[in-house]
Amino acid sequence: MEKKVTKIGVLTSGGDAPGMNAAIRAVVRTGIYNGLEVYGIFRGYAGMVDGEILKLESKSVGNIIQRGGTILKTSRSKEFLDREGREKAYNNLKKHGINGLVIIGGDGSFRGAHALSSEYDIPCIGLPGTIDKDIAGTDFTIGFDTAVNTAVEAIDKIRDTADAHDRLFIIEVMGRDSGYIALHSGIATGAENILIPEKRTDIENIIFTLDEKHRRKKLVNLIVVAEGDEFGGANEVAKIIKERMPEQEVRVCILGHIQRGGSPSCFDRLIASRMGYAAIECLLEGRHNVFVGIVNNRMHYIPLKEAVKKKQRISEEWMKIVKILST
Ligand code: F6P
Repeated sequence: MEKKVTKIGVLTSGGDAPGMNAAIRAVVRTGIYNGLEVYGIFRGYAGMVDGEILKLESKSVGNIIQRGGTILKTSRSKEFLDREGREKAYNNLKKHGINGLVIIGGDGSFRGAHALSSEYDIPCIGLPGTIDKDIAGTDFTIGFDTAVNTAVEAIDKIRDTADAHDRLFIIEVMGRDSGYIALHSGIATGAENILIPEKRTDIENIIFTLDEKHRRKKLVNLIVVAEGDEFGGANEVAKIIKERMPEQEVRVCILGHIQRGGSPSCFDRLIASRMGYAAIECLLEGRHNVFVGIVNNRMHYIPLKEAVKKKQRISEEWMKIVKILST
């Protein structure tokens, strides 16, 4: 007989992402609305191992929907990677009578949830919270929209100064080994080149085009580089171009962690709220070990193990668009 979920734990794990607070709020309020007790687990899996667990009320999540970061803090827990660490964590959950979990994080966090729920009879529901949008099975992850808008704002500012000085700027954005932030922010800012891990970087072709543009006096160029690009990032690309085109003024800008913070966009607040609500529906329907995804604006539930196995890949269509729009 399926065990009824009565007390749930919620945590944020891995890199934080704008909108995580909106998701926490939706999980807590939907849980309480359905008569469940909800516990906050602090600092992700590390807090579960150390027993940092606190009961949450509806007012605990007041005035946070607009805040970046996560009120539950987060971590990348090495201890949880071990079976002993997971046993300690599970015993802490049992101490509080927690019999359902909502994990907000990326594929690494889903890997942890999959391991825990394979070893112990505790239903885990994942919410895709990462700025990288690298989780297969969902069109959007919580935080991606905000991170891309932060990058677009920064790149627009850089274009102003590049234009003022007739310079080439090479701008590096986050994404781990995914090129989505570079792709979306590069297209949205009219970048002349977009370098992503999913597409081999042809530096000879880049230099040839820059040279050709230089001759046409088109001196203002922006190249957006994903940090995971096989060429090694903005500094590596700049080094080669400076060697080969000493006449070209080159500057590098690495956007870094500003992409992780900031008030979440309306879009991120909405998907986080919908996903938080859906996570509770999942637990109440007795679903196990799935994550909530959005495809064509519809919610659906994908086995956690799928997120562990596959990465979200960039389509050929986007590649073609990049090629055409950045010539
Ligand atoms: O996964 C989110 C992310 O911001 C990646 O884009 C980036 O590569 C990584 O985390 C940075 O990790 P940290 O915050 O540990 O430096």
